Amino acid sequence: MYILGIETSCDETGIAVYDSQFWERNEPAYQGIIGQSLHSQVKMHEEYGGVVPELASRDHIKRILPLIHNCLDQANLKISEVDAIAYTKGPGLAGALLVGTSVAKGLAFALKKPSIGIHHLEGHLLSPLLSDNDKTINPRAFFPFLALLVSGGHTQIMMVNGIGDYQILGETLDDAVGEAFDKTAKLLHLPYPGGPAVSELAKLGQPNQFHLPRPLLHSKNLDFSFAGLKTALLTQIKSAENENATLSESFKANLARAFVDSVVEVLITKLSLAMHQTNCYRVVVAGGVGANTQLREGLSQLVKKLPGVSVLYPPIQLCTDNGVMIAFAATLRLLQNPKSIDHSDAFDVQPRWPLNHLV
Ligand code: KG4
Ligand code: ZN
Repeated sequence: MYILGIETSCDETGIAVYDSQFWERNEPAYQGIIGQSLHSQVKMHEEYGGVVPELASRDHIKRILPLIHNCLDQANLKISEVDAIAYTKGPGLAGALLVGTSVAKGLAFALKKPSIGIHHLEGHLLSPLLSDNDKTINPRAFFPFLALLVSGGHTQIMMVNGIGDYQILGETLDDAVGEAFDKTAKLLHLPYPGGPAVSELAKLGQPNQFHLPRPLLHSKNLDFSFAGLKTALLTQIKSAENENATLSESFKANLARAFVDSVVEVLITKLSLAMHQTNCYRVVVAGGVGANTQLREGLSQLVKKLPGVSVLYPPIQLCTDNGVMIAFAATLRLLQNPKSIDHSDAFDVQPRWPLNHLV
């Protein structure tokens, strides 16, 4: 099967074709990606300091068909050779979701092919199975596993028992961790999106120059809270500004370092607690913040300390939103249950869609 994947839930237009033979034949899963194209709207939203939904929808409309053509050219396929069309049905921005969904449904109708609506977070949490960051791991035999999902809109720890069987063990009570990175970037006058910028600046900072809170670190449950960190940062910045009109580069780097150290410590502590509570030591890290080098370094230290723990990450370029994760999640669903396809011509999107409501 050749599965076309379409992702338009937020500010990336992502298209891909996945060839299911690679998964079925036990060949390197990553090689099943036979075409992928992506357009990021980051530059367009930068001047507003965040995603402007109406601009996002209009840009998806402009980009989507040329990206589909480009992707099919890479895969050396005609559109009629695609077996099914997968699209992100939710959660996300309603207008943006409607662009990908209506194009997918239109293609499916015109070509008389099935379509399949995918949950965006399911795409993220299965994408680490495309990786071979640890060559001793066979991703096909990795279930059940724990997933740390850290994106711009979500921070969750989940038990993944199988495709479609996801149990949320803990989640953020307020801000998502990606959101905390983005807010920190704004406070430090760094460019949008904040995650990569804060991470890079933190590498120049010294440890332990500021002590920021570790919210809910010892709470004994798997919930997170990141909103208080922003207030703590703001307090530090205000008092420095009272002394000096402009913030020095070293001040900003040290504060970024303190922020990243706090976030990484909380994420790793909670993940360790989840392993302990579930007795499951296979872990995946997914979502945009999964690209963070400090988090990956922290986890590799943990793996060294605790033999028996194995961690899979998506390839770096698949941490943030992309079409590959949608095509791949649809492939796994279709292989597991060919009835997961949708034959109806009607469609809707689900801007809000709790992952544990998935079947
Ligand atoms: O998964 P994603 O692309 O979109 C959502 O579904 O939310 O995640 C985007 C988030 C943004 O908040 C961005 O700042 C963060 O991921 N991010 C990072 C890094 N790269 C992206 N955060 C920390 N370090 C990074 N290297
Ligand atoms: Zn995402």
